[in-house]
This record gives sequence, structure tokens and C-alpha cells, in this order.
Amino acid sequence: MRYPALVVGFVDLHNHCLAGLDDGARDLGASRAMLGALAALGFTEVYATPHQKAGQFMPSREAIDLAFASLTGAPGAPRLHLGAENMWDDVFFERSQRGEIPSYDNGDAFLFELRPQVMPVGALDHLFRWRMAGRIPVMAHPERYEALWTDLGLADRLRRQCAFVIDLAALAGYHGKPQQKAARRYVEEGWAAAVATDAHSVEDVRTAAEGIAWIQKRLGAAAVERLLADGPRAVLLGELPE
Ligand SMILES: [Fe+2]
Repeated sequence: MRYPALVVGFVDLHNHCLAGLDDGARDLGASRAMLGALAALGFTEVYATPHQKAGQFMPSREAIDLAFASLTGAPGAPRLHLGAENMWDDVFFERSQRGEIPSYDNGDAFLFELRPQVMPVGALDHLFRWRMAGRIPVMAHPERYEALWTDLGLADRLRRQCAFVIDLAALAGYHGKPQQKAARRYVEEGWAAAVATDAHSVEDVRTAAEGIAWIQKRLGAAAVERLLADGPRAVLLGELPE
């Protein structure tokens, strides 16, 4: 499946294609295979977002830069950019206080994730303060957070303070039933700012393709373009859905 009619290509805001840093690509061959599969789907821009998660995955700046440099510039591959997937933990808040949250292209927008089972106390206040400070918080896989499954009001308030970026594989049912239901609802309600692959392997790119196929079938080609091409670009420019 490819979308050759696209004027501009797809942008992936969530991806673990850099080798040897976290639970994503294991080696350079796997990284290249992922980029090849993403290009075949229509992605022209890919943001590598290695985990930054205290006590589990905390690759150093040097290791990230090295992995990034070794993968950049392959012919025919999507253009590679750098971001990070920041876990909402102590390291993240220390970095926030120093104004050093790893972000997309070192800009205002940054990707964060929460632990699935517990919504952090004061999450909305933190997000509001970042917004007031000119930052653009981008929430990874909002469909995964259990508190939002039963509290749509909270989901609605959150998506006004941060950009919801849904995992494509969740739309296709690969992350579980409640996650699929939430992911589809956010997309159908227009609450999703973008969708992304969150790919850790070339197999994940295949399941992401099924998510794109669902959007195409359920909401049409314009929604595909909005969620994969225009939406992610708007997020990087600091816009949120109405
Ligand atoms: Fe991720």
C-alpha cells in the first residue's frame, strides 16, 4: 500500500529506528530495513524518538548522536530527524526545570509518555504551564492510559493542552481491545493531532500500515493526509486541534 497522490509525504513523529539505544532496532541493518519499509508506505520524514526512561533506557547524548549519524543520508530513505520519547519521571522534571527536555529538532515540541495505569497528579496543570511557556507537549499513545478509558471528559481536557499522537497499530487492534476502542474514538472525534508508527521493528511498520488502511476505509483519504502529513507538521509548528 502506498499513497502516490500525496503532494507532501507522511511524517512519523514516534519511532524507535535508531539502533542499539532502547528496545527498538537492534542493529544498523534493522534500522535500514525499517526506514525502507517506511519509505515504501509514503513516509518522507521520520523522527527517531529513542526512550528516555530512568532506570530502564537512558541512552547518552553521544550514543544517540552516533546512532543518528550512522543512519542519516541513506539514498531513498526518508529524511531522518531527532526527537525523544520522554517518560514522565524525575529525570524528565529535572530536565524541564533546566529547560533541557529533549525535543523534536531541538524545538518547542517534545514527546512524552505516561505509565499506563496511573494518571499523574497535576498532569493538566503541568501541561498548561508548559503551553504558557511556549512549549508544545505531545502525548504518545493516549489510547494506552487506563484513566482515560472511563473518563472521556479528562481525555477531552488533556487533548486541549497537548497534542494526542495515536499509535497506528492500536487502531488495527494490535495493542488490545480497550486501546483499540480509545484510539479509534480519538481519531473519529477529531481529537487526534496526528498518528504515528511507534515502530520498534520492521514488523511494526507492517502493523502500522493496517492502521493507515483503517483510517482510509473509515474516514477516507483526506483523513489519512490530515493525520499523517498535515497534522504532524502542524504539531511541530505548535498547533493543536480545535
Ligand atoms: Fe515509543
